[in-house]
Amino acid sequence: MCRHQYGSEDINSSMDITQAREVLPKNVKPVHYDLTLEPNFENFTYEGKVVIDLDVVEDTTSISLNTIDLKIHSTQVTSGDQVIASSSELQYDEDTQTTKISLSDTIRAGSKAKLTHTFTGILNDNMTGFYRSSFKAQDGSTTYLATTQMEPTDARRAFPCFDEPALKAEFTITLIADKKMTCLSNMDVASEKELDSKITGGRRKAVTFNKTPLMSTYLLAFIVGELNYIETNNFRVPVRVYAPTDRDIEHGRFSLELAARTLDFYEKKFDSKFPLPKMDMIAIPDFSAGAMENWGLVTYRVVDLLIDEKVSGASTKQRVAETVQHELAHQWFGNLVTMDFWDGLWLNEGFATWMSWYSCDVFYPEWKVWEGYMTDNLASALSLDSLRSSHPIEVPVKRADEINQIFDAISYSKGSSVLRMISKYLGEDVFMEGVRHYLKKHAYGNTQTGDLWAALSNASGKDVEKVMDIWTKKVGFPVVTVTEDANTSSIHLKQNRFLRTADVKPEEDETLFPVFLGLRTKEGVNEDLALSTREADFKLKDLDFFKLNADHSGIYRTLYTAERLRKLGIAAKDGLLSVEDRAGMISDAGALAASGYQKTSGILSLLESFKSEPAFVVWQEITARISVLRSAWIFEEEEVKNALKKFQLDLTKDKAHELGWEYKDTDGHIEQQFKGMMFGTAGVAKDETIVKAAFDMFNKFKNGDSSAIHPNLRGSVYALVLSNGGKDEYEVVLNEALNANTSDERNTAMRALGRAKNPELIKRTLDLPLSEHVKGQDIYLPISGLRTHPEGIKALWSWMKDNWAELEKRLFPGLTMLSSVVSICTSSFTHEEHMKDIEKFFAGKSTKGFDRALAQSCDAIRAKSAWIKRDSEDIKTWLKEHRYM
Ligand code: BES
Ligand code: ZN
Repeated sequence: MCRHQYGSEDINSSMDITQAREVLPKNVKPVHYDLTLEPNFENFTYEGKVVIDLDVVEDTTSISLNTIDLKIHSTQVTSGDQVIASSSELQYDEDTQTTKISLSDTIRAGSKAKLTHTFTGILNDNMTGFYRSSFKAQDGSTTYLATTQMEPTDARRAFPCFDEPALKAEFTITLIADKKMTCLSNMDVASEKELDSKITGGRRKAVTFNKTPLMSTYLLAFIVGELNYIETNNFRVPVRVYAPTDRDIEHGRFSLELAARTLDFYEKKFDSKFPLPKMDMIAIPDFSAGAMENWGLVTYRVVDLLIDEKVSGASTKQRVAETVQHELAHQWFGNLVTMDFWDGLWLNEGFATWMSWYSCDVFYPEWKVWEGYMTDNLASALSLDSLRSSHPIEVPVKRADEINQIFDAISYSKGSSVLRMISKYLGEDVFMEGVRHYLKKHAYGNTQTGDLWAALSNASGKDVEKVMDIWTKKVGFPVVTVTEDANTSSIHLKQNRFLRTADVKPEEDETLFPVFLGLRTKEGVNEDLALSTREADFKLKDLDFFKLNADHSGIYRTLYTAERLRKLGIAAKDGLLSVEDRAGMISDAGALAASGYQKTSGILSLLESFKSEPAFVVWQEITARISVLRSAWIFEEEEVKNALKKFQLDLTKDKAHELGWEYKDTDGHIEQQFKGMMFGTAGVAKDETIVKAAFDMFNKFKNGDSSAIHPNLRGSVYALVLSNGGKDEYEVVLNEALNANTSDERNTAMRALGRAKNPELIKRTLDLPLSEHVKGQDIYLPISGLRTHPEGIKALWSWMKDNWAELEKRLFPGLTMLSSVVSICTSSFTHEEHMKDIEKFFAGKSTKGFDRALAQSCDAIRAKSAWIKRDSEDIKTWLKEHRYM
């Protein structure tokens, strides 16, 4: 481990990725499933029966299908009226999670067969497969619901199935439950009949849903529980938001209306009707991801669906909108047209991500979401992809533990950045035309990346595959070095692989990316230029003003000379650069300094020149740069750390005071966040007025004035009072974390707790994640605040070591959460010796399910350690010269 298992051996584009897959034998193909499930809320198991109609493709003597943790009671395989197998012939392979049924006779190719299993499953607590979730009913008693999370490979945990995205079939689902329960699935109800139950003998019903269209197993959903809903008819088919009965269902109103409008927008944009008879969206109290796009029944973490606009801030609202629009985009991209295997995951996630920004921008133009694309998505893509332990967008993955780990910034953010890049290059309208071709051609089918490029080529008349292929098949991205020749008025460009650790070996620098230059000059942007060779010269009219990567729609960093960077700083003030250009240029300069391509003093001077910057997004980047620097220096001498803090204060305080922290009803969406952010950063840098204001608001709040802290300031106020206060403040915030009305308020408080530095309070914070007070889905919340101070980082690491067995048990490798916890507990370290300790701890342990996260943490530490060694003196000198030290 920590030895970059994935890094440099990026796959050769001539290799066929499909060869590396581990899939079921292709002798039979499922056509239809008739599935009945009856959950038992007394002992948390369920009884199931599945009848699968199969097409026999090759002469068949055995049938293998996926199962995990299912107790199969009976098995029957028939072909025509002939019974060919029964229970005794089962063989289980734990490794591949398959059950193999040996047949007594051969079934001939071209015939049909029927496979029937009866089985018992567990309504588990792990948020995978068919699982249980709980909430407190109005009378205070705990109430359970049964719900599902199948993606990527847990449908096999719910029922025996051919659990691969390309094995699409039709499904008829029946759920049996107590009459007071609501039963939901992907489709609308076909029939409901009363039953005598096998389990309780009470008043039960069997709800059968209409047959689904052809679909993949990972998109199935079944839910049984006591639920409320609201409904809108603003879309062609009914749209509902469901929530457990303990929730104020009106908090679903915003998502409900948005969903109806979004579905209407998508079906017109895609020229493809939403094919199901209804759309339900439901808040689930225990949910491992943020949301899941099950066809016609989208499941959400409570905070990502329900919002009380009176108590939540603008960024929470934007996150809800993004999540809803992301999952609804999947109804086409993913659900209607599906990647043919998990190595094509980016086709799902990259597209849904891009599409959510696209639609959000149409619905809320005043939010200017694209301006923030660079600092959010592109930045996280470049950040992860600058590590040797990154991976190509299309990466071979076999088992669940590998598949789960690629739901990361590469699939989502680099994936959507690739789409943004090509959409800019072709023009958005042409791009959309290609998307419509793609959806039409592959509806109800499966695709590979090449199918998307073919559709885009078709629409544009350009060879899209030629320019895009490398971007999804190769790891990493380039840094483009710009040198200038004033005599010939030309620029010389050279591309090399960019690594944060700045130790690129020649064999890691062989890929030549097609780099779209997006050359901005006074004449406008030239979108046609590209660099596809190692180096080339480009002649300009003059060298007064130019910038590469206009709006940062290209996936690369640009390294200018120090003199050019200074001139660009001036150009920014003169209004020659867009918001994305300004933010992107700071981002590039920061990343290049952190990895040794430039001196860190250069970025400090650049940041200083941005003091009068008006745009929120640019300030987001400025503050992000300082916090990256301060966290890399978190274990260094107090004197330097204090000087950096002073620098931060000096840089941010004027803007913070200019904006103020009073809120008016007329404040726009961006302004609300801008005020909150500046209040927070200047406050963290110890602006006395702000710290005092935070305590004033907090004390009023403590004394019962529930509106004393504005929702957009809440996180910052908690952070400030906890890092400057003591036990009293902690008690109040803890009480909010446990008892506040909405999930958003509780989460904000829970996230802040770790800011308290007193050893006794650190201990109390660390007692929370594994206690009964914190749901499994929220483990990362209380620990994240601890990363803001050295005492916290060390305590967090000890906590992880001490509780490893428990963590491994609770967050077993099939979940992405173990990865997040490992990453949170290790990645804040900054020295080689820290890394040695991490390596020592994991030596000899299985790192299954989080090996990528671990390798990425180690790479990040290595990069920080090298940065500190390289620029420690440079920073000190700059801080002294500028009187911060
Ligand atoms: N398909 C994913 C949910 C998922 C994630 C399933 C990981 C299995 C493993 C869903 O569409 C998704 O991407 N959800 C995001 C929210 C979105 C707004 C980026 C999430 O869960 O964070
Ligand atoms: Zn998604």
